[in-house]
Amino acid sequence: MRILTGIQPSGRLHWGNYFGAMKSMFDLQAKGEDMFMFIANFHAMTTVRDGKALREATREVALDYLACGLDPAKTTVYRQSDVPEVQELAWYLSCLTPMGLLERCHSYKDKMAHGFEATHGLFAYPVLMAADILIMNADLVPVGKDQKQHLEVTRDLAQKFNNAYGEIFKLPDAYIPESVATIPGTDGQKMSKSYHNTIELFDPSVKKKVMGIVTDSTPMEEPKEPEGNSIYELYKLFATPEEVAEMAAAFRAGGYGYGQAKKALLSAYHRLFDPFRERREELSKDVDALEDILSTGAAKARCAAAIAMEKVRTAVGL
Ligand code: ADP
Ligand code: TRP
Repeated sequence: MRILTGIQPSGRLHWGNYFGAMKSMFDLQAKGEDMFMFIANFHAMTTVRDGKALREATREVALDYLACGLDPAKTTVYRQSDVPEVQELAWYLSCLTPMGLLERCHSYKDKMAHGFEATHGLFAYPVLMAADILIMNADLVPVGKDQKQHLEVTRDLAQKFNNAYGEIFKLPDAYIPESVATIPGTDGQKMSKSYHNTIELFDPSVKKKVMGIVTDSTPMEEPKEPEGNSIYELYKLFATPEEVAEMAAAFRAGGYGYGQAKKALLSAYHRLFDPFRERREELSKDVDALEDILSTGAAKARCAAAIAMEKVRTAVGL
């Protein structure tokens, strides 16, 4: 089974990305699935207008994934722009894409509501995403809930293409594990770079951010209900079930303050991420090694793309 996912290099990755997206990729990788993971730098151009920033963010995302567990011997990892055939396929799909289908996309409407300029790139975003997926013949696409509609568009476009030109594309399924919770940010809302409430994976000011997580003003002595409390919800991600049960009991008993809970969270974070941080430092010293990993991944990805494109070009009459 081929599993493919992409991540936009449009900012530093945060705890929400790790527990909401990266970790399930690493779990699938451990099961020995046929994995493809790419850095969606073409997509990021819909919001990033600074070449240097885009290039750097692309490298940072690659380093983050490799440091946290992506194994290039098991997962084909590449930059989207190293497979230019996706742009070609996106055009063929565009010619079959009804405007209404894209007009209904929530992510586009959401961007408009947030004051983004209505560009053709933002509007056509789901078509390029469909090309990413279909060109690699993916069966399963792990994504967050926010991307579910884009997978529906992908299936629609695959079906339209097949109806017009014959059975070329598989209809991929979204993989949205129910167990993946919405990770809260430092203000209690969903952690997201758009809300400026993130804690980055290797945040130099992690201590300050954790200590600054918003809490209510229940006095330290009083018993507190842990469920729904951001610190407790975040602690669940990092700690063992025994440690989680201990914190819950301490909150319910009273005499346990949010400050103590924040310190416990911080040390659980360090336990998991310090080894990743060390690996990341090693990886970041060797620019050529990273480039090698990405170009080896690109070569494999282009082979897969070539297989699809040969059939596609013949079918469309080129
Ligand atoms: P952001 O909201 O910071 O812009 P993205 O939309 O780029 O993050 O996130 C990429 C993927 O990371 C999402 O599709 C989702 O799977 C995951 N993700 C991001 N934030 C969270 C969160 N707070 N909780 C769970 N998953 C998240
Ligand atoms: N749109 C996805 C996101 O923002 C990133 C992405 C681009 C993607 N192409 C993809 C994800 C193909 C999965 C498959 O999260």
